[in-house]
Amino acid sequence: MTQSPVRALVTGASSGIGREFAQQLANQGYVVTVVARREDRLRELLATLPGAGHTLLAADLSSSQGLETLLEYISSERIHLLINNAGYSVLEPFYQSELGKQQNILDVNCRAVVTLAHAFLGQAERGDALINVASIVSYLPTPAQPMYSASKAFLAAFSECLWSEQQSRGVYVMGLCPGVTRTEFISTATGGESDGDTLPAAFIQTTDAVVKEALAALRKRRKAIVVTGRLNRLMMLMPRLLSRHRLIKILAVMGDPERAL
Ligand SMILES: NC(=O)c1ccc[n+]([C@@H]2O[C@H](COP(=O)([O-])OP(=O)(O)OC[C@H]3O[C@@H](n4cnc5c(N)ncnc54)[C@H](OP(=O)(O)O)[C@@H]3O)[C@@H](O)[C@H]2O)c1
Repeated sequence: MTQSPVRALVTGASSGIGREFAQQLANQGYVVTVVARREDRLRELLATLPGAGHTLLAADLSSSQGLETLLEYISSERIHLLINNAGYSVLEPFYQSELGKQQNILDVNCRAVVTLAHAFLGQAERGDALINVASIVSYLPTPAQPMYSASKAFLAAFSECLWSEQQSRGVYVMGLCPGVTRTEFISTATGGESDGDTLPAAFIQTTDAVVKEALAALRKRRKAIVVTGRLNRLMMLMPRLLSRHRLIKILAVMGDPERAL
């Protein structure tokens, strides 16, 4: 009997961490479905992936239509691994920024994740897995990015609770928390003004390192929250050692774009 393929769906695969997930998963024999708005990028990615059966879905995850496209796909295909990776930030003072722009962060970073997680878990079977890409910012809120920090805190709590809920079903849920990673993230957040080159190199991980750690943790299926990078894990001591008040004051300085970027 021929074995059916193990399919992974990766959102935000047109660049950065999502693209790397698609590549490493394809290298491991997964059949991947890649999702993002930039179809040309997805097409170019598919052409580089080893193996057969990979496919793309061009969709804007902030729109109802985009989500509908994915919901239809999930109801018609057997997905074994969902990676809710698409996400972004806007580095602008919240009160000066357009409300719609800020709300759109919630749509992509939270609403889409909840919608896809719900559809995926409804069809999931023992052995399947869900990875929600959160951030160390989930635990280290950065005042320069209120909506982003809040959205990632939501994702960490959401993932931890689902991790517990799904244990009895044998479905593994992970909240992945990378720190600063070399991608298009900072360029998008600053509207192209910076690509984060001025940040200390010791703080920056490659997408290769982040995804390797994530996939190693996926094989172990133990932790609800996976923080990548030794320095990032060290930084996670801050919320334990400092009062909330002091933590926010320090992160306001550390995360100040005028200083850091
Ligand atoms: N880089 C970091 O320092 C860092 C640290 C911690 C966590 N993260 C998280 O890692 C995840 C991936 O980010 P990245 O660093 O790889 O950044 P990136 O290179 O900018 O990639 C972001 C991806 O999200 C997709 N995306 C954004 N808005 C979308 C929308 N409305 N609909 C569909 N797709 C959309 C983008 O595709 P299109 O533009 O083609 O739609 C792109 O593929 C995010 O959740 C981010 O919050 C990043």
